[in-house]
Amino acid sequence: MSAANKTAAGRPPGTPPIVLLRGICKYFPGVVANQSIDLEVLSGEIHALLGENGAGKSTLMNILTGIYQPDAGEIIVDGYAKAFASPVEAIAAGIGMVHQHFKLVMPFTVAENILLANRSSAYRSGIREIRAAIKKQSDELGFALDPDRRVHTLSVAQQQQVEIVKVLVGGAKILILDEPTAVLTDAEAEQLLATVQRLARAGTTVVLITHKLNEVKRYADSVTIMRRGKTVATVDPSTTTAAELTQLTVGETQTLPARAQGEATGTRLNVGAQFFNVLNHPNFAQPISDISSPLFGLIDGTVSTPTSIFGNGLGGDASPRIIQLKGTFQF
Ligand SMILES: Nc1ncnc2c1ncn2[C@@H]1O[C@H](COP(=O)(O)OP(=O)(O)OP(=O)(O)O)[C@@H](O)[C@H]1O
Ligand SMILES: [Mg+2]
Repeated sequence: MSAANKTAAGRPPGTPPIVLLRGICKYFPGVVANQSIDLEVLSGEIHALLGENGAGKSTLMNILTGIYQPDAGEIIVDGYAKAFASPVEAIAAGIGMVHQHFKLVMPFTVAENILLANRSSAYRSGIREIRAAIKKQSDELGFALDPDRRVHTLSVAQQQQVEIVKVLVGGAKILILDEPTAVLTDAEAEQLLATVQRLARAGTTVVLITHKLNEVKRYADSVTIMRRGKTVATVDPSTTTAAELTQLTVGETQTLPARAQGEATGTRLNVGAQFFNVLNHPNFAQPISDISSPLFGLIDGTVSTPTSIFGNGLGGDASPRIIQLKGTFQF
């Protein structure tokens, strides 16, 4: 399809969404997590949700999967208004989510975990059927999961595979992945996203929550950017530059002064393929080290930086932290 026949989000005009969220609001004490969110996800697309820590991405998807109830707004799935009182109801409507923190019972086997999650579905007749379903689904995805392995003996990547098979075996046609690559090595991430892409090409709709622009650019068919509880835009990643995505995500850019000789500390920022040395500056909230973030872009030869960079959403010690960048750095 020519660009002229596409909407800003890269879609054919008039395509009905499989998921339509309208005016979704969610408030926690003292926090507006979602404020009048509109979102359209098309059938069979990989729809990325991009935004800084705390932008409201997980909350929105937790509402779509019945974990939270919205304070306002509508959920429309395949043309029908829905209200999910629980994830069980969402999965019955074909919506399943793999969370940032896995929800597996470690001493149980793969089959026991998947049976437990699907006990109210067609598999209530027992472990034999679920084992066969796991084998089939796992083989289709190239996962090679052994239904009889205890989950605590599996690697993190394999545990994530169990989570994915769990929701697909449960009948999910809309698969929500909350920062799935945050816990994976680069090679594992590539493999997972290639699998997810195959799944989408075969008809599954995917919502991919991510902080990583390269994932958005390489794998997403459309991307909705969220900022401080609101949706900012839905755009076509193939025609939107990384710098533009950064700008949409952080809402502001800062043009930094050019090279200041001799002041570098040796701390480096990995900006795409380039490294930048960061100057020590009293305005830095904390020392910067080993930060790898695609969320920096070169615009017209100057460096555009957000005032914060993105963590991986896990909050662990190993994750990059939000860092205020108010000083200068040299390059
Ligand atoms: N159960 C909760 N109780 C209170 N506040 C919450 C709860 N869940 C989320 N929040 C708050 O709502 C806001 C949105 O959080 P949310 O987890 O949806 O963001 P996110 O975009 O997924 O961020 P991250 O990238 O860090 O995962 C944040 O300010 C968060 O602290
Ligand atoms: Mg989150």
